[in-house]
Amino acid sequence: MHTENISWRCPSNIAIVKYWGKKENQIPCNPSLSMTLSKSFTEVNLALSEKKSDEEIELEYFFEHRKNEAFESRIKKYLSAQKHHFSFLNKAAIRIDSSNSFPHSAGIASSASAFGAIALALFDAEKSADKHSPEFLQNVSSLARLGSGSACRSMFGAYAEWGKHPNIPNSSDFFAIPIHDVHENFQQMHDAILIVDETTKKVSSSEGHSLMNGHPFAENRFIQANERTLRLVKILQTGDFEEFIHIAESEALTLHAMMMTSANYYILMKPATLSIIEKVISFRNNKQIPVCFTLDAGPNVHLLYPETSRESVEDFIKNELIADYKNVIWDKIGTGPEKVN
Ligand code: DP6
Repeated sequence: MHTENISWRCPSNIAIVKYWGKKENQIPCNPSLSMTLSKSFTEVNLALSEKKSDEEIELEYFFEHRKNEAFESRIKKYLSAQKHHFSFLNKAAIRIDSSNSFPHSAGIASSASAFGAIALALFDAEKSADKHSPEFLQNVSSLARLGSGSACRSMFGAYAEWGKHPNIPNSSDFFAIPIHDVHENFQQMHDAILIVDETTKKVSSSEGHSLMNGHPFAENRFIQANERTLRLVKILQTGDFEEFIHIAESEALTLHAMMMTSANYYILMKPATLSIIEKVISFRNNKQIPVCFTLDAGPNVHLLYPETSRESVEDFIKNELIADYKNVIWDKIGTGPEKVN
């Protein structure tokens, strides 16, 4: 067997309605909806060669040219649980080389793009998978979810929803679905990621999710996320910016409120996070320019704005927010994963 190489690039995504809280088997406690990015991505090369040992899974994992034992054993466990999907695991040794488009120190969570790219490469390597069937991306999304919940939404361009909702046709807890008929107002969105702190998180997302078990506000939070996900699907189709801004910002603050009100409470926002948030709100109120903030599970701020307000928002970021951030990643809405030749 000569070595076969398969490479995929998978983007990261930013949630507008947040996934926060999960059950067994990576089933979310509430539906979520995200925008797929374009410049923040992970590229994975999967190399298959002849197996040399009788190990169940012969795998080596390299992140940016360095062997990463911790991630290697995480992927081994993940593959071992999914081995019925992959007949090549019996015959082939696997080497995965992964790298990110963004610096490791940027403080951006890379699990969504990394697990997205790994799931794509694995399914692509499986000869029996029909890559042109409509189920292909659904299966990949489902496999990516088992690696990291938010990864399942990165399979589709523009906007994706994940989590069963009675009024969203085809929605599922197992995989994400793309949002169709998006209004032109939301088709050219930008996401300026303002890096205010580059250190790794003190509380991992997994620990954070688990703090939603028995959280005093959990039940209402999940009801709220259900309502907002459905509303946001409609907003994306009707083009209502004001409503979009309201949901995006309230979701960011609600996510952090959940952290601050859990049994083992913690705060991930930094003084600069709050400074940016306050300046964004007053800039929008004074200038009547559509721009809003959102946060993921960390201190960095994502500013979302349409192409039509790009110049004024980017001037504002460069002139008025400069003291609050260390770095900016000028990202925007993207078209989803790509196979790399
Ligand atoms: C705050 O997908 O990183 O970014 O499933 O444990 O890997 P695991 O969690 P992860 O959680 C993401 C949480 C979030 C919100 C979101 O992306 O919806």
